[in-house]
Amino acid sequence: MIEVEVCVGSSCFLRGSEDVVRAFQALIEEKCPGCVVVKGSFCMGRCTGGVTVKIRDEYFSGVRQADVPRLFDKYILPHVR
Ligand code: FES
Repeated sequence: MIEVEVCVGSSCFLRGSEDVVRAFQALIEEKCPGCVVVKGSFCMGRCTGGVTVKIRDEYFSGVRQADVPRLFDKYILPHVR
């Protein structure tokens, strides 16, 4: 199962972690229910750019809600069977 971790540390939380989590969950529900698990994470030490997300061991910084569909299509969907 593909794992997505969204930082919910204080800096990322203030920059919209909850919206990012909701955006992932909505896409998962729409495109491949049950294919991805979304977890909250403590600070990943990359606080400066905004919400930090880890997808399949790759880190993305400064993620906003609007970025989620692009990340999903590029880094998740190709790995879903
Ligand atoms: S609070 Fe999210 S990377 Fe530090």
